[in-house]
Amino acid sequence: MMSSSSSASHSEPLFSYETVCAIKDDLQSKLGGRSPSFGIILGSGLGGLGEHIEDAVIVDYGDVKCFPKSTVVGHKGRFICGVFGGKTVLCMQGRFHCYEGHHPQLTTLPIRVMSLLGIKSLIVTNAAGGMNELFSVGDLMLIKDHINLAGMVGALNPLIGHNESRYGGERFIATSKAYDKEYGQLFKAAAAKLGLADIIRDGVYTFLSGPCFETIAEVRMLKTMGGDAVGMSTVPEVIVGVHCGMRILGVSLITNEAVTSYESVAVANHEEVLETGRKRAQDMVKLVEEFLTQLK
Ligand code: HPA
Repeated sequence: MMSSSSSASHSEPLFSYETVCAIKDDLQSKLGGRSPSFGIILGSGLGGLGEHIEDAVIVDYGDVKCFPKSTVVGHKGRFICGVFGGKTVLCMQGRFHCYEGHHPQLTTLPIRVMSLLGIKSLIVTNAAGGMNELFSVGDLMLIKDHINLAGMVGALNPLIGHNESRYGGERFIATSKAYDKEYGQLFKAAAAKLGLADIIRDGVYTFLSGPCFETIAEVRMLKTMGGDAVGMSTVPEVIVGVHCGMRILGVSLITNEAVTSYESVAVANHEEVLETGRKRAQDMVKLVEEFLTQLK
């Protein structure tokens, strides 16, 4: 019989509202009076954007109350707060993933902290495998929608359990408009202005828990379901962002082609993901900067 004292109960939040407020106070005290209005999460290989932030203060996750360290190669694991594209941003160089063994409420804790800091807009980036045949490695896919496969059928939805309405959201939230249309249009306009329109795609991001890259049969299934790209992050953060009332821009860097043929010699690997990230990092920096500059 399961013990009633088990700490894995779904109804008990991993972090109470009061605890998240205390974490927010702790981080805020380390930001030296900066008051960010945009959150940015940098995915695998895209952390370089953080180096372009001006007047920056850096806070390692390990120095923030209740935050674990990031364990993934290519993820530095720190906040950088400062000015980018004329806006004050709080940037995450690295994120927490379910495949690291973290509860979805922990992977999304930074979003709630951001929300309590007054952040109302979130830019989420990730590295993803391309499944749409029209995509090329190095393309940037504007996320227009997602399939929360890991959350739909299992326990990886961060909103399972007690609904804390003080974050703003109700028990049952709509996610059909999770990705802000105007932000998407602005991002495309920024790409056109920078001469990068030909690498921008639209698509549906499919979230799997990882850490395995997909089998061929799995990629075929995901494509049939309507997925254009596949990855191991972002969706829990977006769901919590929506619950907090945030406007969201999501961008996937297509770092590799998801393998769909038994004849293919290609095999997905993390080094390829990081390498593509490094190659496209500069364009991503310019695009996000231009996007922020254009925003009122
Ligand atoms: N699959 C899942 N996650 C990923 C991939 C992939 O092919 N590439 C980058 N992240």
